[in-house]
Amino acid sequence: MKHINNQKGLNSIWTDSLARNLHPDGNALVDHLKTVHQEHAGFTEACASSCRDEAGRNSYEWLAELVPDNEGSRVLDLACGSGPLLKILFDRNKNLNLKGIDMCPEELALAKTRLINSGVNLIESKAQNLSVINDNSIDIVLCHWALTLMNPIAPVLDEVRRVLTSEGQFVALVDGPMNAAPGYTEVHNLIYSYVQEEIPNYGEIDLGDPRIRGSESLSNLAHKAFPEANVTIETNVVSMEGPVTQVAEIAAGFFYAAFVLKPEKRKLMIKNLSDILVTSKESTDAERQGRFSMPISRLLVVPDIK
Ligand SMILES: C[S@@+](CC[C@H](N)C(=O)[O-])C[C@H]1O[C@@H](n2cnc3c(N)ncnc32)[C@H](O)[C@@H]1O
Repeated sequence: MKHINNQKGLNSIWTDSLARNLHPDGNALVDHLKTVHQEHAGFTEACASSCRDEAGRNSYEWLAELVPDNEGSRVLDLACGSGPLLKILFDRNKNLNLKGIDMCPEELALAKTRLINSGVNLIESKAQNLSVINDNSIDIVLCHWALTLMNPIAPVLDEVRRVLTSEGQFVALVDGPMNAAPGYTEVHNLIYSYVQEEIPNYGEIDLGDPRIRGSESLSNLAHKAFPEANVTIETNVVSMEGPVTQVAEIAAGFFYAAFVLKPEKRKLMIKNLSDILVTSKESTDAERQGRFSMPISRLLVVPDIK
């Protein structure tokens, strides 16, 4: 039985399993992600579009710039969520052939509203089974901030490979190395310390396949799934500044772990987080300014054409 209400934090089969010292399986993971996204649809977009790199790009724009503007290019946004990346691509070039897939109906509903009359094809499906898409039918598969959540991951990469043409590319935005952004490790550790008071082994076991979180293990996985391709990983940092409580809320939104906190504990965590992120000396929270920086990486898998 799951609960999301004002008294309890968020419960799912995944958190119940963790609390009983078990290792949650793929179905428990799906249940957890659907529970979070059902209640907080659109939260990723709210956080990710607020943070920009030194060149002024948010992470969607950083990923979108790898999509060539060729007429009729067939693009699949895997785990498209509420559709911000598809919207950027559609606004840039109405002649792209765009598809989005996600397993969460509440996120897809937001995507459908914003992409109404665009002709973008939005499909509810799991990334591990893309049977709705033909072999060799896609020129570029994008995946923004979702690969980290997928377990098992091997079938996802196999499906990406199957649907791509022989010249096709796979581009994914994932969390970058923690030490690439100033202060990020401190933010991470603070949030997890609160979460671990409720579920001690959250963190030791986390959402998705841990290999996606390390650049070397991610590169190895990609090489294994795409043996003839060139694999590169680039790192960048996106940041936001503003009233410190707002910055702390956005920062916490990047951590799924923070959703399991009960409201009172979450409030305390946000207060503590604000103290870490503060950059000015004003006396009230409303006046104080803060800054949060987040490391991101861009995985690029392209065919090795000699
Ligand atoms: C962090 S959100 C990212 C959404 C969107 N790409 C964005 O960046 O705004 C993760 C999304 O991945 C989806 N997702 C996670 N695992 C999935 C899977 N195995 N198959 C399909 N969708 C999945 C979730 O439903 C959610 O919409």
